[in-house]
Amino acid sequence: MTVPRLGVGLQYNPELIGWFPFVEQELDVIEILFDSVMTPLDGPGLISASGTRLLDMVAPHVPLSGHSNYGGDFGFDDLESTAAVRRHVPLARRFGVPWVTNHCFYSDASWSDVWSSPLQFSTAEAERVAERAKALQERYGVPLGHENAAYYRVCPGSDLREEEFLAYLVELSGTYLHLDLHNLYANALNHEASGYSIERFLDTIPLDRVITIHMAGGRWIDGQYHDLHDTQVPDPVWDLLDVVLARSTPGAVILEYEAQALVCGAETLDTQRTTEVILADLHRARAAWDCAYGAHSRRTTWSEAA
Ligand SMILES: [Fe+2]
Repeated sequence: MTVPRLGVGLQYNPELIGWFPFVEQELDVIEILFDSVMTPLDGPGLISASGTRLLDMVAPHVPLSGHSNYGGDFGFDDLESTAAVRRHVPLARRFGVPWVTNHCFYSDASWSDVWSSPLQFSTAEAERVAERAKALQERYGVPLGHENAAYYRVCPGSDLREEEFLAYLVELSGTYLHLDLHNLYANALNHEASGYSIERFLDTIPLDRVITIHMAGGRWIDGQYHDLHDTQVPDPVWDLLDVVLARSTPGAVILEYEAQALVCGAETLDTQRTTEVILADLHRARAAWDCAYGAHSRRTTWSEAA
C-alpha cells in the first residue's frame, strides 16, 4: 500500500468548527473524526445532517484523512457489528481518504466510558487484535495506522512494553502506526517511575511503518499530566518531531486541539488567542517538515516546485 506525502494538517475537531478559519489556511490535509460525522448505529444513513454541513465546508478545498476513536476497532464485539465497519469504512470510501488511523483503546457500542482504556499489552492480545486490524484494513482498502494512546494506568495482564506490543501487532497484521508524540511525552511523564523510555520506544517500533504523526499539548492537574490538547505544543514534543521526521517518512503531521478543555476553572475560551496559538503551531510544524524534507515537499507547495 502506498502513503502519499501530503504535509502538515489539522484535525477537524468539532470544538474548533464555527470560529477557526480552516479553509483560509494552507492546510495539506484535514483529519476528520469519523465518530463526529456519522449517523447513529441504530438509525439509517451514513453521515448526520450536521456532519454533512461540516464536511461541505472543507471537503471541496482540502484532502481529507480519516480517524476513528470510538469505532469498536479493538473491542470484543463482532467486527461486522461495529461502527468501524458499518460507518467508518463507507465514510472512508465516500471521501477517498488516503489512509485511516484508529486509537488503541477498547471500546464498544456505548461510547462515553471507554476513553483512556488502553489495550492490554500482551502477546495474546496482540494476536487477537492483529486479526481485527488486518480484516479492517482489508475493508478500508487503504493503510490503517494504530495510534499509541496516552494512558494513566497500564492494563492488568500486560506482559509486554507498549512499544513491543505495537511492533508485534503491525508485524502480524501488516497494518501501520500513527505516532502521537504528545501521548508519548505524556506517558513518559506519568510512567517515569516504571522506567518508560521514549528513546527505547522509538528504537523498538518500526519507524518505517509510521504513516502519520499527531502533535498536541496538555497540562498537569493534581500531579498527573493530561493529554488535553488545550495548550500550545510543548517544546519537548517539537524536539521529538525533529527526531522522528529524520528517521521516518510519514504522510502527514497533524495538529490536535480541544478548545472545550480551555473552559475550565476560571478560564474562558478566547478564540482570537487560541487561533493565534494554533497558527503559530502550524507555522512551526511546516518549518519542521520543510527542514526535514525540503521546501517543496508539502501538498500546498508542490506547485511551487513545478
Ligand atoms: Fe492523537
